[in-house]
Amino acid sequence: MDWGIRNRISRIVKPDTGHTVMLAVDHGYFLGPTTGLEIPKKTIEPLLPYADALMLTRGVLRTSIDPKADIPIILRVSGGTSILDKDLSNEGTTVSMRDAIRLNVSAVALSIFVGAPHEKETLLALSNLINEAEDYGIPVLAVTAVGKEMARDARYLSLASRIAAELGAHMVKTYYCENFERVVETCPVPVVIAGGKKIPERDALQLAFNAISKGATGVDMGRNIFQSENPIAMIKAVRAIVHQNASVEQAYEIFRTGG
Ligand code: 5RP
Repeated sequence: MDWGIRNRISRIVKPDTGHTVMLAVDHGYFLGPTTGLEIPKKTIEPLLPYADALMLTRGVLRTSIDPKADIPIILRVSGGTSILDKDLSNEGTTVSMRDAIRLNVSAVALSIFVGAPHEKETLLALSNLINEAEDYGIPVLAVTAVGKEMARDARYLSLASRIAAELGAHMVKTYYCENFERVVETCPVPVVIAGGKKIPERDALQLAFNAISKGATGVDMGRNIFQSENPIAMIKAVRAIVHQNASVEQAYEIFRTGG
């Protein structure tokens, strides 16, 4: 693999543990001012010291993140739909590679919708993005979004994750599921999990623990951190699981005591 790609990935996936805590704050690209991210800067800034990377759109990056911040950026470059659309798979590429480079990103991210009406377009958009990004040594994170009819089970998620890797994605973001080890084993590139909808903190920590135990390289967690009653304590607790092999009980204690 290209030196530039490996160098950028090593900024995101910490070489000392081989793991990563990405903070996902890109939700507004189709959800608008979602709960907890109404004023992005206010939510994101206090969490930056505890995140290994930040996943967001260029609009929030430009307006809400200090260019002096020492944080690798994973730039979402797909979009074009809103929560009001019947078919969320109708996404396109929203950011040029030129702008991604200008923003000095460490990776770009794009959603694929396997099994959804626009499956083919999103898979070809991923392939085109990889072709372009590789010219500049920029890794691509494929996000396996789920079609409305698709179950989030190991059969489906390993299908979507493997297709993303086969097309050349350098990392895959997917969901945790039963038999998650099958998703990881059959995907030849690092896998990170999304946190999903807000659930009780202990359950979200259990999710992170299960994912790491079953081979995930890390988490790309959003709502379960920034919608927590104590986001800083929550991200510290997630870090303890991801980077320090903490048990769920130990991590929950970090959360409960405020980090
Ligand atoms: C949406 C995304 C989000 O970044 C992702 O869902 C992670 O956030 P959360 O932990 O809130 O699910 O990629 O497609």
